[in-house]
Amino acid sequence: MNRREWMQAASAIGVAGFVPGATWAQAVNEVTASSLPEASSVRETLSLDKGWRFHEGDIEIPWPTGNNDTYDWTKTGAASGAAGTAYDDSQWPVVTVPHDFVSFQPVSQAANGSQGFRPRGYAWYRNTLRFEESDRGKHIELQLDGISTLATIWCNGTVVCHSTSGYMSDYIDLTPFVVYGDVNTLAIRVDAHAMEGWWYEGGGIYRHAWIVKRAPVHIITDGVYAFPVKSGDGWTIPVEVTLNNMLPDAAEVQVISELRDGSGAVLRTAQTTATVPSLDQAVAKMGLSYDTPKLWSTDEPNLYSVYTKVLQNGRMIDESTVETGFRTLHFDASKGLFLNGKHIKVQGVCNHQDHAGVGVAIPDALWAFRLKKLKELGVNGLRCSHNAPSKVFLKLADRLGFLVMDENRNFNPSPDYLDQLKWMVRRDRNHPSIYLWSVFNEEPMQGTEQGAEMVRRMSAAVKSLDNNRPVTAAMNGGMFEPHNVSQVVDVVGFNYQQDKYDAFHAAHPDIPLYSSEDTSAFMTRGEYVTDHDGRHVIASYDDDAAPWGETHLHAWKAIAERDFIAGGFVWTGFDYHGEPTPLTWPANSSVFGIMDLCGFEKAAFYMHQAQWVKDRPVLWLIPHWNWKAGDTVRVMAMTNLDAVELSLNGKVIGRQKADPWAMNNWHVPFEPGHLQVVGFRDGKPVAKAFVETTGAPVALKVTPERPTAAGDGIDVLTFRIEAVDDKGRSVPLAQNDCTFEVSGGDIIGVGNGDQDSLESEKGNKRNLFNGLAQVIVQTRAGGTGKLVVTARAEGLKPAMAEVRLMNAQPWPYQSVAGTMQPLRTFSLGHGDELKPGTAPGVAKDGGDVTAKAGVTPYTGFAGGGTLVFNRVAGEMSVAVDGQVVAQKSDPAEGPFEAPLPAGQGARVLTLTFHTRSGQAFGLPGKVYLTV
Ligand code: GAL
Repeated sequence: MNRREWMQAASAIGVAGFVPGATWAQAVNEVTASSLPEASSVRETLSLDKGWRFHEGDIEIPWPTGNNDTYDWTKTGAASGAAGTAYDDSQWPVVTVPHDFVSFQPVSQAANGSQGFRPRGYAWYRNTLRFEESDRGKHIELQLDGISTLATIWCNGTVVCHSTSGYMSDYIDLTPFVVYGDVNTLAIRVDAHAMEGWWYEGGGIYRHAWIVKRAPVHIITDGVYAFPVKSGDGWTIPVEVTLNNMLPDAAEVQVISELRDGSGAVLRTAQTTATVPSLDQAVAKMGLSYDTPKLWSTDEPNLYSVYTKVLQNGRMIDESTVETGFRTLHFDASKGLFLNGKHIKVQGVCNHQDHAGVGVAIPDALWAFRLKKLKELGVNGLRCSHNAPSKVFLKLADRLGFLVMDENRNFNPSPDYLDQLKWMVRRDRNHPSIYLWSVFNEEPMQGTEQGAEMVRRMSAAVKSLDNNRPVTAAMNGGMFEPHNVSQVVDVVGFNYQQDKYDAFHAAHPDIPLYSSEDTSAFMTRGEYVTDHDGRHVIASYDDDAAPWGETHLHAWKAIAERDFIAGGFVWTGFDYHGEPTPLTWPANSSVFGIMDLCGFEKAAFYMHQAQWVKDRPVLWLIPHWNWKAGDTVRVMAMTNLDAVELSLNGKVIGRQKADPWAMNNWHVPFEPGHLQVVGFRDGKPVAKAFVETTGAPVALKVTPERPTAAGDGIDVLTFRIEAVDDKGRSVPLAQNDCTFEVSGGDIIGVGNGDQDSLESEKGNKRNLFNGLAQVIVQTRAGGTGKLVVTARAEGLKPAMAEVRLMNAQPWPYQSVAGTMQPLRTFSLGHGDELKPGTAPGVAKDGGDVTAKAGVTPYTGFAGGGTLVFNRVAGEMSVAVDGQVVAQKSDPAEGPFEAPLPAGQGARVLTLTFHTRSGQAFGLPGKVYLTV
């Protein structure tokens, strides 16, 4: 019996499972659309996810030796080697970001276990961008949403950014560096050797990349702050719009903001004017008021938007939309948290940004999958441990209704680090989901004067940007020291320390307190007998926790029984690569999760559902029912009902009052057949669940996460693979080796939740681990018809599943040029040179002028390529190694291309200009070799 069949069986007398509401389904289907770049007639937001050439490992930048070389080497625009504009990357594979190169690494005992035993190290990415003459005068920004861990970024041979954290975006003004009608080189050296965490952090450009083109006077990135505040009986939205001006003179602009409802209808308008100084910023401030909003809450996540446009001399020059929501939040030190005046206990989970198969390069749709699973679990709070999340994560949290604790990675108020904190607050401060800003997690200085002084400064930095949420810190000690951080935050988070809740509250009855982290319990999905040292598995009855933690059931009891604890965050919702505590090699992922690395439910899922879900009956039964004669099996029922009755093959074993803190347990001598539990409310049976003894696997079964997918090359969906017996029942202990085949899409990762697995998470093979595996598939751009996944295993009937591909609007992409080898100089003889990109000459007498260049084409062009002349003036013939390959017979200036015949090693290019008296000739545009 799989879960769906259980649910169907149970529905005869009531639903004991999860039925997603319309809001969730809609939000999840919207995910691709919601992450589409903002559409605008005056600004372009272009994806730069494609066309990246990738090199694993470092490449030393050649050091100069002589004085002239050294002089040249230090100059702006003159970066050499892989950082520069002329580098042979033609053989590097092309990758699409999000890209986590560490997730492709084999698991290795020599690597760091906290980081998942995956070798890290360095990598390079290069890309070539084309900007047209029509882009001249626009403000051009490169946005890199996340690179793990440190990076240096060059544009056309000039360093344009040192990226200082793997969890921060970089917004880079490329305008002064780019060339138009030509090719621009981006080079990124990634140092993923550096670590910021003690968990798997991946490596590379693991979030999206963008090029944004705006008018010279424009709203800066994250430049609109519009968060509704309750005032009296109504609401106001103070709107702040930060503008930038790259023109030589100050600009006078008009700024108009509109409050719009979920359907886009304009509810209120405000406007003001601003003077934006040259090469500087100005902030335009307005107020919107609105008295009858539909409030945002975790149950009804109503969203509004604030649309802002900027006009200069009556003409619109920029526009931007931010989403927001109306809600109040209040912490009461003795009663906990109130959302819109109603008490809410945070039933939260901590998570890292990591999933089976893809590491930290989580596609947008996979975030939707994960957050939907958490909603199903009954979670209403998410802690972004221990770093700011991706943009799409927060969009989904707003839409699905979660309270989010947004967390800063590096605890340090010195300027570089403070920039990271400020970036997070600026980017995230409109989201109604965010209810806490966290400045740190478990810092050794938390119980010192220095720690408190540091937090004071960081808290002030947060408040200078947003005063609408409290500042917190996740403390795991020091809270009773004479100087400590609890004295300088608004709300105190305890990591673990559950035995100190009462003492702290008694000593500080005015300080609001919540559990920023608890539990850290161990559990292996589908295992019911602990074998710690041998098979490395931990049983699912919630008996084991880290010494600093508690079991799932005990940790929540400590929170639930205390009104003054405003909720808690379980460590963790999902398993993650790295930190395999308490296991050792070959364990390479954690076992803390309520779900495994793939998002498959462990027993903890059902325990928390029983405790957290109030609006529908919950009833689950563990373990599976495939045991040996003579075994006595511990059986656990998990319910939010009043009582449960267990029976085996029709014989009642016993009825128990439901126990929310220990669940309901029996020890049952095994007998094959049908083990059933019925749940009662007010004495009436309202739900049932059962497990059955299955036969051996005879076939596979493939179940897609949803019936449709967007055929845009971006959407991603998961497929659940399981083995079934001759009656179609899922076989819980099946471990078959499977292979997968996909048509109409591509596998981007595989997983099975086995923390000990040394198999690659890439490719098309995976064994079932305790009956389950997952295949993660990405659609293809322009995909139509069907996406089909077929699974095979020796001795079993293959299975397949189809997903309908829907027409989808493709993202607008920045145009990328592929590898381009520049030809910088041609010799005219007698020491004279012709440099491509310089003004053409005028022929005096007419006749042929010959320009030659010796060049060794990049290795990737050995099979032949193209000589690209951006612009040529005059008639010209092109010869390669003495053979004429092309003739330009039109004297008018224009682009030209000539074939480069296949060949190895050095080649001689000869350009012969057939000049006429008084006519222009030459190479006003750059010249490249490409394929
Ligand atoms: C906490 C820490 C988490 C994780 C956890 C494991 O102390 O904040 O990041 O390491 O322990 O139990």
